[in-house]
This record gives sequence, C-alpha cells and structure tokens, in this order.
Amino acid sequence: MREKIVAGNWKMNLTKNEGLLLVDGVVNGLNTADVKVILAPPFPFISDTVSKVEKTTITVAAQNCHQSESGAFTGEVSAATLQSFGCDYCIVGHSERRQYFGEDDTLVNEKIEQLLANNIKPIYCCGESLEQRQAEEHFEVVGKQIQSALSGLKREDLLKIVVAYEPVWAIGTGETATPKQAQEMHGFIREKLSQVLRDEAENVSILYGGSVKPDNAKELFSQKDIDGGLIGGASLNSTDFLAIIHSF
Ligand code: PGA
Repeated sequence: MREKIVAGNWKMNLTKNEGLLLVDGVVNGLNTADVKVILAPPFPFISDTVSKVEKTTITVAAQNCHQSESGAFTGEVSAATLQSFGCDYCIVGHSERRQYFGEDDTLVNEKIEQLLANNIKPIYCCGESLEQRQAEEHFEVVGKQIQSALSGLKREDLLKIVVAYEPVWAIGTGETATPKQAQEMHGFIREKLSQVLRDEAENVSILYGGSVKPDNAKELFSQKDIDGGLIGGASLNSTDFLAIIHSF
C-alpha cells in the first residue's frame, strides 16, 4: 500500500516567528494519522521544526542539498548534514531550481544518489512548461526527466523515492491542472516506473503540485494515481494547509 502524503513547501521569506507559529498551527490542528505530513521549510528552520514535530507523525524535508558528499562549496548544505539534523526527506528538481539555478536531471540524479546514501528520501519533482504542454510534448518531456533523473538507481532505492508531478504552468499561478490532466500524467509516470519496478510501481507515492488549494484538493486526491500533494502557497496558512490534508 502506498502512502498518502501532503508536503508543504514554504517560501523563503518567512521570519522566525511566522515560521514557528506555522509549525505550531499544523501540529495543533492535525487530526489524522492516515496522511503523512511533511514540512519543507528553508534551512534555518529545520532544527526547530524537527524539535517541534518530534512527538508527532509529522516529518521534515529540506528544499535542496548539494550533490557532493563533502567539500568547500560555500553557501551549500550536504545531505549528511541534513540527515544529522533530522531531515527524513529532501525536495530535488523543483522547477524553480531548474529555472533559476540551472539544475538539470543529470545534476538531480547526483543529488538523489547523495540523499539515498545518507538515508534521506528524495521528493523528486518533474513537470513540463506551458510551451511544452501547448506543443503536446508533455509526456515526452516528463518521460525524459524521469528517465535521466532516476537512471542507474537500484530497485530498492527507487522504492524510496516520492515523485511530485508539478506542471510548471501551475506552480504559484493559481492555474491548476484539471484532475483529468493530472491523473493522465500520474498514470503515465506510474507506467514509466513499472518498466523497472513492475507491480511494485504501485507502492510509489506520486504527488501533484501546482496551485493546490482547499477547494480543489479533494477532487485531485480522489484520482486513482494521485497520492497527495506538494503544496506551496497554501502551506503558508495552517488553516488552508490542514484543510488540504484533511480533504483526503
Ligand atoms: P504552489 O507551489 O502550491 O504555490 O503552486 C507549489 C510548489 O511550491 O511546489
């Protein structure tokens, strides 16, 4: 049975007080243990967030890590460091990292290897741009992303990965993929995973991300291959984030 997961991907600009209040809001309002809740705050919040969720079912993700095990890379954070601070997950390949920091799937593949070597589960993001969707290249684009980012991974490692399908045109735009568009792509991704994993592809959680809100979450999450969401904007308000979690 695959896990239902809702992950909150915070923006970089919350102050310490705002961020810690947000964690308290989620901790105090969560009333289900059926959904795995992951909080992905910016680096400075990780330690406090880990402490605050310690006695709960909530876990913590980082938003990025460096691909090398160690070395002089000022401004970067290694997977081993994240692990030692209690991160269970790390987002990789987010479209903002691809767009603004030039990350591609070859680099993402290295980051995934590094995370797995340090016992952190990658939340691997993929998704097409608006132009690619309009040109009807979305399946090809996502297929290639998955192919190169996950290439060379052992079966048991592939099973540790959470995939997040995030069409770039839907992230932070208020524009959501329709449940049908999202399901179609999630089914395609699972099919792609089954080429290596066979029946075990059924055990991989595939999240949808891109303007998920309390009023569209239920319909998205009721699709056969949508196992939860990666939530940006709506995760900055604990009431909205909890409503999304509880809409399962
Ligand atoms: P959004 O962001 O929910 O604001 O579209 C998604 C994300 O941060 O990945």
